[in-house]
Amino acid sequence: MKKIDNVMIDKGSLNKKVELYGWVSRKRNLGGVVFIDLRDRSGIIQLVINPDNSNYDLASSLKNESVIKVVGTVVSRETANNNLKTGDIEIDVMLMELINSSIDLPFEISDNTTALEDTRLKYRYLDMRRQSLKNKIIERSKIMKSVRDYLDNNGFIEIETPILCKSTPEGARDYLVPSRINKGEFYALPQSPQIFKQLLMVADFEKYYQIAKCFRDEDLRADRQPEFSQIDVEMSFVDQDDVIDVCEGLIAHIFKTIKNINVKLPLKRMKYDEAIRIYGTDKPDLRFELEIQDITNVFKKTDISFLENVIKDDGVVNALVVNDKASDYSRKDLDKLTDFVKKYKASGLAFLKYNDSNFTGSIAKALNDYEKDSLVEKLNLKGNDLVLIISGEYNVVKSSLGALRSKLGKDLNLAKDNSYEMLWVTDFPVFEYSELEKRFIACHHPFTMPREEDIDKLLDDKKNCYAKAYDIVINGYEVGGGSIRIHDEKIQKLMFKALGFSEKEAYDKFGFLIDAFKYGTPPHGGFAIGLDRLVMLLTDTTNIRDVIAFPKTASASCLMSGAPTVVDDSQLKDLAIKIIDD
Ligand code: AMO
Repeated sequence: MKKIDNVMIDKGSLNKKVELYGWVSRKRNLGGVVFIDLRDRSGIIQLVINPDNSNYDLASSLKNESVIKVVGTVVSRETANNNLKTGDIEIDVMLMELINSSIDLPFEISDNTTALEDTRLKYRYLDMRRQSLKNKIIERSKIMKSVRDYLDNNGFIEIETPILCKSTPEGARDYLVPSRINKGEFYALPQSPQIFKQLLMVADFEKYYQIAKCFRDEDLRADRQPEFSQIDVEMSFVDQDDVIDVCEGLIAHIFKTIKNINVKLPLKRMKYDEAIRIYGTDKPDLRFELEIQDITNVFKKTDISFLENVIKDDGVVNALVVNDKASDYSRKDLDKLTDFVKKYKASGLAFLKYNDSNFTGSIAKALNDYEKDSLVEKLNLKGNDLVLIISGEYNVVKSSLGALRSKLGKDLNLAKDNSYEMLWVTDFPVFEYSELEKRFIACHHPFTMPREEDIDKLLDDKKNCYAKAYDIVINGYEVGGGSIRIHDEKIQKLMFKALGFSEKEAYDKFGFLIDAFKYGTPPHGGFAIGLDRLVMLLTDTTNIRDVIAFPKTASASCLMSGAPTVVDDSQLKDLAIKIIDD
């Protein structure tokens, strides 16, 4: 191949003849001289075509984003452009060839584009010509290479697992694929390779990894896509600390390779219950403090009736203290915060402003002297502090204040720029109570190993069973998670029983795994890192679509291809499927 990268050309090539290919990114005519920014994947180089040049008419007529070939001489620029890698040279064109012209563009190909995201998604192939987006996709490729390098160097083997799978309950809704050969039957696309990677441990591959495509039909958010990629890892003869060591070693390697950042290992660890108590979430953003404070005791003998009632019903009173910001919040601002926390089921938001040893605010008048003194002491209040208070049932108070904490962190820019705060959240509960199903369900999946000390509690004390399950959290994102798996048949049976599966039900759902485990199963565990989320963090974006070449919209469709679409009746007939209108 003859093509060389634009940015390879520098002053070392002065007076040399070069052959270049690329897109017409920008064209200007200054005093009769045509200047073209020629763009290729590597960057931009300037072409100069003087009026007496035989290529002048062609150059003048070129439309932006046409593909051209040029041959020319490398010359020095009169005034260098320090924003360009090639800014001190330009190409004096000798020959120009139009390879392929472009029609009028739906939007300007520029990093400062104001085009709507929907338009850019429709013409994704044009959007990806923008350098800022292209760089993120290139960065993703480098990250994937660094993952493979690290795991390969540490003895892991990359193995692909099927995409057409059996539907097994894993948390989200499955994407189903009808079988033509076995009419009325369906494959499910994998929500993760979970069961296969455990079978690979039974098959004695000992250390497996895969950059795996996963599919989940769930409500989409800024950090969720219906199809996404996991760096999926499983290991045999390990316990929790071994798996955590590999995962954080991998993360440290990626940050060093991609960002030249030295991650200090081992990472901080925090138990799930503590994360909920202090931050109201299992994925706390530790780039700023703003801890949730328990002030229930301050109100043990209160006259404020709504607090009295909450405490009588075993509820709690918790607060966030926003230092030195009281005067920045108007009544209207605080009403907006109240509306915000109500979305998280909080009954309301009380507030206090502390200034000159005085309280003002929604419950200020009702506070007695003991409560005032205790609040100042307990919350270490200083001038202009704002106290935001939510009372009620423990989980509601924690989750609503947790959400408020994240919002304030963003609104007030509390997180240090360009910093990464990582931690492990460990000891997740084994079960969670489903209000919908009115029973305990698995927090992770039914193969998650409980802590040794909790095995006896599986049937009778579900609330206090904790698992050898762990999540890695970076800047408030759940970047990855995993667990040690149950490899002992007795514990597995107990777990199915605790989840209310009869032996038959368990066997119908997971029979092939249960069977496999009868043939000598090594102790094993693993983790999966959300590759897309990791790339988001490493490329400083909060939009997952920025790091996926062809992403879906929030309604799970592809604006470029139109997927999903209706299909021909003959295709449905082949599959013996009838569409029923709602
Ligand atoms: P889990 O369900 O926690 O674990 O997924 C692992 C990681 O995948 C990412 N992730 C997503 N990223 C983008 N869009 C989504 N819809 C999405 N859903 C999840 C998150 C998450 O931390 N089999 C287990 C892992 C194991 O136990 O080894 C699993 O899939 O970053």
